[in-house]
Parts: sequence; C-alpha cells; structure tokens
Amino acid sequence: MNSILSYETVSLDEREGALVILDQTKLPNEIITLHLTDIREIWRAIYTLQVRGAPAIGIAAGFGLYIAVKDIDTEDYGEFLRKFREAKDYLNSSRPTAVNLSWALTRMERVVTSNAGKTIPEIKELLHEECRAIKSEDIDMCRRIGEHGLTLIKDGAGILTHCNAGQLATSKYGTALAPIHLGRERGMNFRVYCDETRPLLQGARLSTFELMADGVDTTLICDNMASQVMKMGLIDAVFVGCDRVAANGDACNKIGTSGVAILAKYYGIPFYVLGPTSTIDMKNRTGSIIPIEQRPPEEVTEMWYSRRMAPEGVKVINPAFDVTDHELIAGIVTEKGIARPPYTESLREIMLP
Ligand code: MRU
Repeated sequence: MNSILSYETVSLDEREGALVILDQTKLPNEIITLHLTDIREIWRAIYTLQVRGAPAIGIAAGFGLYIAVKDIDTEDYGEFLRKFREAKDYLNSSRPTAVNLSWALTRMERVVTSNAGKTIPEIKELLHEECRAIKSEDIDMCRRIGEHGLTLIKDGAGILTHCNAGQLATSKYGTALAPIHLGRERGMNFRVYCDETRPLLQGARLSTFELMADGVDTTLICDNMASQVMKMGLIDAVFVGCDRVAANGDACNKIGTSGVAILAKYYGIPFYVLGPTSTIDMKNRTGSIIPIEQRPPEEVTEMWYSRRMAPEGVKVINPAFDVTDHELIAGIVTEKGIARPPYTESLREIMLP
C-alpha cells in the first residue's frame, strides 16, 4: 500500500473533467479515490465530509464550480452568469462554517464579473486557471505556515492537536500539522498527541494516519484525556487549525477545540491557531456571529458503533464547531506571519493587501 501522503487530497482530472478526491469517510481502512463529475455528487461529497477541512473544501468547491459550468452551452453572458450563480449558490449551501468555501466560490465569481467583455470560452478558460491557482497557492501557503509554526517549537516537543488540520485537510502539509511535516523533512521529530475528535473521529482516523505515515511519534487519546495528558507534563504547545477566524481573533474550529484552549490556559500551555489568511473573515467582527453547522444526531448515537449506543428518543445536539475566545489564543499563525494579541490590530495589518 502506498503511503497516504503520496495521494492527493483533492485534484482536477483534466481529461475526464472530474473532481478527484480521497474518500475521507473510508480512511484509514480503505484508500479510495472518487471521480465526481456531477454537481450534486460534489455537493454531497462536501456535506458528508468525503472531502473536508477548510482549505480542501475551498479547493474542491473551486474545481467543482468549474466542472459545473464548463459545459454550459451559451454564448450569452447574462445567461452564463445566471447559471454560474445558481451553481455557486448551490455549492455554497453544502457546509456553512468554513469560510474557505465561500471565499473560493467568490474568487471564481470575480473572474466572471470582471471579464464581462470576454467571450464565454475565454471566461471558462480563466475559471480553469483560477481553480488551479487556488490549489497551487494553498500548497505554498501551507508551507509558509509550517515555516512560521516551526519557530514556536523545539525538536522533540510534545504537541497536542485536535481534529485533522493536516495534508488531508489541505493540498499538502496542512496547517496545524504543517510544522510537524516540515520538521520531518528537516530531520526533526515531535511527539504528537491526537485527540480522537468525537463524533466524526478526524483525529483518530486521519491525523494519526498521516502523521504515522510520515514517521512521527504519534499517540492517540480520547478527547476527555487532554487534561490528564497536560497535567502529566507531556504537552509543550497546542496546535489546531481553524474554519473561520473573526476580526478580533476569535477562532472557530472543530467542536471540542475551545475546551482544549481552556485547559491549555489552566495548565499554562501556549495554544496556537494555524490557518491561511483565506480563513480570516474580517467581515465577522467577533466569533459570536460565525454560523455553526448542526449535524445529524445519528453521528452521536449510532455512527461507528455496531449498534445504537443511546436510547431511542434521547435529545441530542450535534454542533460541528465551536469558537475559541481570542483571549485564550497565544498566536494565530498564517502564511504571512504570526499575529499576536491584540488581534484587532495584528490581523488588520496581516490582512492588508
Ligand atoms: O468537519 P471538518 O472535518 O471539515 O472540520 C475540520 C476542522 O475543523 C479543521 O480543523 C479545520 O478545517 C482546519 S483544516 C486545515
């Protein structure tokens, strides 16, 4: 079996005109790639987390939108724009929290609206270039995040991470795991503790899988063990990804992240959020207005178990994300550098063109 790191998380098959993704719902037991050509299949792949992680969702949406509009049969700009927007809005409805989804789709839309004088085939070619650029820029951004993140830790450090913000959530390196992978390229090694990340187990299934494939010293813990592991002195820093960061530094990430941040504060461990500037949403003044995705109760009561593990009829809430208060965050690591408190100022500066 090839290493999971040799597979592309998300790519465009030019010949077939298909979005190609690793089906992350099957990992780590089966490595299956899916070739998707229909916009409904692409919507579903994002909704069901076959492709997941904020940057990877953005890349998949860019490719998906290109695939959805490349065969629109018209020479009329108005008609093309209308059909383009229908496809854009549809894909945008697949998941609400990770801002990279709407960021990528809006980037694609700008290509259409700023080239109104061009022919439809020319616009389609520009869209093709744009979606490929979104992916290649992501590789570069993640590497830079890794470089900045590496300045925060020493060889051999113990890092706690939550969910999966690694290569499987991006195109390469990841965000929170980028310093770890980059460190490996340079002969360093870290001890990484992965929260299993209930209810969808991104930590247990994905982070451990990709870190072990890179030869990283990897330990899996249940989410409720983080406090004890911190108390045992095993953790020097917490590195997590993000799905949307507000202008004041409040950071939305996988459910459970804010609890880890509160624990880290208690134990005096620095808590860092790592993500590209495409995840910073300056339109959200604080984290309180970030939309939090609610997912089906069966993910809590049934999924992964051989039979249901909660009484029929029990009430369940299943928010997929939470917001970590900016006061708990020691630094926000982006491709442009590390923002430090006060974030209203440091993020504004980082977001300047
Ligand atoms: O629901 P998911 O698996 O898409 O959630 C992913 C996360 O919360 C990641 O931490 C975040 O998207 C950052 S990925 C680099």
